[in-house]
Amino acid sequence: MTDSIRILMCAPDYYDVDYVINPWMEGNVHKSSRDRAVKQWDMLHHVLQDLAQVELITPQQGVPDMVFTANAGMILGDQVVLSRFYHPERQGEEPYFQQWFADNGFTVHELPRDLPFEGAGDALLDRQGRWLWAGYGFRSELDSHSYLAKWLDIEVLSLRLIDNRFYHLDTCFCPLSGGYLLYYPSAFDAYSNHLIESRVPAAKRIAIAENDAVNFACNAVNVGQNIVVNKVSDRLREQLAQTGFQVIETPLTEFLKAGGAAKCLTLRINEPVLENVHANEPVASRVVHLQGHLLDAGVMNETLDLVVDNGGSFKVLNFNLGTERNSPSQAEVRVSAPSTRVMDEIISRLIQIGAITADDTAQNATIAISDLDGVAPDDFYVSNIYPTEVKIEGKWIRVQKQRMDGAIVISNDGAECRILRDLKKGDRIVIGSEGIRTVRKADSREKRSSEEFSFMGAGVSSERRVELVVEKIAWELRQIRDRGGKVVVTAGPVVIHTGGAKHLSQLISEGYVQGLLGGNAIAVHDLEQALMGTSLGVDMQKGIPVRGGHRHHLNVINKVRRYGSIAKAVESGLVSKGIMYECVKHNVPFALAGSIRDDGPLPDTQMDLIKAQAEYAQLLEGTDMILMLSTMLHSIGVGNMTPAGVKMVCVDINPAVVTKLSDRGSVESVGVVTDVGLFLSLLNKQLEKLTGRYQLITK
Ligand code: ARG
Repeated sequence: MTDSIRILMCAPDYYDVDYVINPWMEGNVHKSSRDRAVKQWDMLHHVLQDLAQVELITPQQGVPDMVFTANAGMILGDQVVLSRFYHPERQGEEPYFQQWFADNGFTVHELPRDLPFEGAGDALLDRQGRWLWAGYGFRSELDSHSYLAKWLDIEVLSLRLIDNRFYHLDTCFCPLSGGYLLYYPSAFDAYSNHLIESRVPAAKRIAIAENDAVNFACNAVNVGQNIVVNKVSDRLREQLAQTGFQVIETPLTEFLKAGGAAKCLTLRINEPVLENVHANEPVASRVVHLQGHLLDAGVMNETLDLVVDNGGSFKVLNFNLGTERNSPSQAEVRVSAPSTRVMDEIISRLIQIGAITADDTAQNATIAISDLDGVAPDDFYVSNIYPTEVKIEGKWIRVQKQRMDGAIVISNDGAECRILRDLKKGDRIVIGSEGIRTVRKADSREKRSSEEFSFMGAGVSSERRVELVVEKIAWELRQIRDRGGKVVVTAGPVVIHTGGAKHLSQLISEGYVQGLLGGNAIAVHDLEQALMGTSLGVDMQKGIPVRGGHRHHLNVINKVRRYGSIAKAVESGLVSKGIMYECVKHNVPFALAGSIRDDGPLPDTQMDLIKAQAEYAQLLEGTDMILMLSTMLHSIGVGNMTPAGVKMVCVDINPAVVTKLSDRGSVESVGVVTDVGLFLSLLNKQLEKLTGRYQLITK
């Protein structure tokens, strides 16, 4: 027995699975055997008595999980931070543990009400006492970590748990003597894994696989070179032996049914304090302001979910609920994060949904100078599609050329979005997330997420619904045409294969389209159909492949190449119908972006992608509406170049594509899951109807 180590345990007199507060307990209510539990616990007790001095706390009726003394609190020296259980089911244990700590000479620190923290289940000392690892994500709240640092005067490193089977840090993480670490990396988010890797050298990290993790191999009691545990695989036992550790297995299956094992059943009560180890400020925090129809428009939920989903935590400092239907609400939320990097990540997402970090008192945006052409400083702020303002020398200025995934460059002319390759050495670039806001309409009660209509897909919604969307789109197309606005179409070859060519041609000839964007394929298949009646060798009338048809498209490309351009082929009379024909005839500009798989290509296809992107961007300037017809890649490209406020209609037979494209978090996008040929035909019918009605009225 080693006198120096003291451990607190609680006999399982009243142990059972009485309720479900973690996934292990599911299906196990009253399924554990008291007798076996007592035997297993006695065995563990026995094993530990050989290694340490075990003390006991009196078990209490009605709190079956009290056996898991790890959750009593977190001890360092003569200080203890008492647990505040997340689940009411375990809160009854708090006074018993508190009493025990007080009786045994500890100074007991109590966390604010509603700030959960589950003791040594979620806080594990580096075995050399250099710092405290603290978990959050399920049971303990991130904000409790600042209190731990302050009261225990130690550096706290926050780790975020993301797999609910490993809801406490000690279920998947076990610091060992000599600076070793036994852990299950998949239980943590990427930031946490980075943090672990930055503190524990690779040679000292013992990452375990899932099979060991689910046997609670990390839930181990480490005393010197001994590791007491429920069960480990032969492989892990060998691996541990190689690093000088001896594994002592003692079955704890009855406790696994409650989601605990060896470590959970123990609490180290004499954790030595290291001198010259001191507190850090483990948690970064910022206050954000929200205004608008926070409840009706779902902004409040969105904000709070976003904070938590991205590894942060929050406290709502103020909430003024607007009482009338039209009165906006106001909220002030303190956001916390385990590091400034995570904080910046969260804040830039909050900026996107219109949250503002401390408006008038906001700091100026932080600026760094680019040191290389085409490269931004590492932590540059990545732009989104929403109207953005940056605070420069105390004034908010509007960012020009708003687009997605650019950097914000500040010059004497103001601020503008610029893609990486256009950056120049010496450019002043906004970094971090201070002094940036997006100006979103606070008065919109509409749900921000896009509407989506399913037609062919799984018969979820009726044909009638697609007709209704088409009616709305047709009406808007008419409005835009009549006021001299601009509609750009992005189209893929599926438009031709599904028989949509004649409908799109009609839209162009009637003046509904002011620009066409696509790749080599749409033009090739359109021309093939115009010249030979096939699309990729398939007869468009009969729908069957034509003999030798696979050569058709190459023939067509070859012919057009002889003329030097699509326009010249049209002028010469070679092409006399179709989409490209109508574009040429009606002076509708088009841009065709090449790709690696292009045959030919057509003389008009821009194989220099940087130039193609520029052509697209130019054609898109001042657009009111974009119709995205069955082409994912070109549509994504277009979406990234387009600021919010431009109406987008995405049509694709694949619901996943529609979701991807229309999910811009703005009201202006509409997704339609349907056959694109059918969609275009409905659209034309609807436009004809509108025109008919119009003529009737004016007669
Ligand atoms: N049933 C208990 C709970 O869900 C098990 C606690 C396990 N303790 C631990 N330190 N991991 O809270």
